Amino acid sequence: MGHVDHGKTSLLDRIRGSSVVSTEEGAITQHIGATLVPIDAITRMGGALSKVSVNVPGLLFIDTPGHHAFTTLRARGGALADMAIVVVDINEGFRPQTIEALQILRNYKTPFVIAANKVDRIPGWRVQQNQPFLKTFAQQNERVQGMLETKVYELVGKLSDLGFNSERFDRVSDFARNICIVPTSAITGEGLPDILIVLIGLAQRYMTESLKVSAEGPGVGTVLEVKEERGLGMTLDLILYDGNLKVGDEIVVAGNDQIIETKVRSLLKPRPMSEILIEERFERVKSVTAAAGIKVAAPKLDGVIAGSPLRVVRGGNREEVIERVRHEV
Ligand code: GTP
Ligand code: MG
Repeated sequence: MGHVDHGKTSLLDRIRGSSVVSTEEGAITQHIGATLVPIDAITRMGGALSKVSVNVPGLLFIDTPGHHAFTTLRARGGALADMAIVVVDINEGFRPQTIEALQILRNYKTPFVIAANKVDRIPGWRVQQNQPFLKTFAQQNERVQGMLETKVYELVGKLSDLGFNSERFDRVSDFARNICIVPTSAITGEGLPDILIVLIGLAQRYMTESLKVSAEGPGVGTVLEVKEERGLGMTLDLILYDGNLKVGDEIVVAGNDQIIETKVRSLLKPRPMSEILIEERFERVKSVTAAAGIKVAAPKLDGVIAGSPLRVVRGGNREEVIERVRHEV
C-alpha cells in the first residue's frame, strides 16, 4: 500500500522479475492484483535468509492502487492482508495516501513494514545492484549517509505522530514493539533482500499458527474482477484468504441486486510469480488453499460485483452463509 507513484508495483515487479508497470496506462494501478511468490524464490533473493528455517509456503502479494480515487480498493486490500508493506518515496516522505494506508492498517490491526523506497534517487547515491542495505549503505559517502539518516528520521517522526514506534530495521530488536523501516530501491534491487527477510520474520511470528488452522475451513475470499473468458464463460478472479475451495463446492457471492448461489465448475490457477489480472495461462486444479489468487468458473456469475465476498457453503450452514455475504457487501 502507499501513495501514488511511490513504487508499489515496481517493487513487486522486482520481486517477481516482471514488468507489470509497463503494461499499466500511465503507470497508474487501477485494480487490486495478486501474485503468489513461492518461498524458494523469496529465500533465493533474501540471500542470508536461506540459513533461517522458514515454515511458510510462500507469500501472496496483493498490489493496490495509490491514486486517491481508489480508497475503496485500498481499504479492501488492507482488510484482506495478514501483513502489509507500506511503500513511501524516501525523497517525498509521507503523502495523503500513505497516511490513509496507515489508518486502514491500524483499524485492522495488520502488522506492517515500511519500504523507504527510491533510495537510488538520493543525490550522490552510488548504486550497488541487488545488495543488502547495510552493504550498499557502507559504500555511500558521509553526506549521502547523513541524508538517508535524516530522511529515515523524518519517517520515524511522522510515524510517531500517528502513534507508531518505528526504527531503521537493522536497529530493531523487538519486532513486536517496533515497526521496521527498510530503505529500498525497486529499480536497483538495493534493500530488497532485507525487506524480504523482515517480511518472512513477520510471517513466522504472526502467521504460522493461524495458517495451520485456517487452511481447513470452508473457503472465504474477495472477488477482484468479473470477466468473460473464452471457453469458460463468466469467471471470477478471486483472492482466497481463508480456508479452501474445491471444484463442486457450493458458493455464495453478491450480485448487483441479489445474492447468487452457484457451484464451482472449475478452478484455474495462475503460474507462480505471475499477476492474476494479466495472466493468460492457467493450470486447472481440483482444490486450492488460502492464501491464493484463483480464477473461478461457475454458472450464473453474470452480475457478480467486483469486491463481493465469496463464501463456501459446507456442512449445512447455507442460510447462515447467505446472511453473512448479504451483511458483508
Ligand atoms: P500507483 O499504483 O499508481 O499508486 O503507483 P505505484 O506505487 O505502483 O508506483 P510505480 O511502481 O508505478 O512507480 C512509479 C514510477 O516510479 C515508475 O516510473 C517507476 O519506474 C518509478 N520508481 C519506482 N520505484 C523506484 C525506485 O526505487 N527508484 C527509482 N529511481 N524509480 C522508481
Ligand atoms: Mg502500482
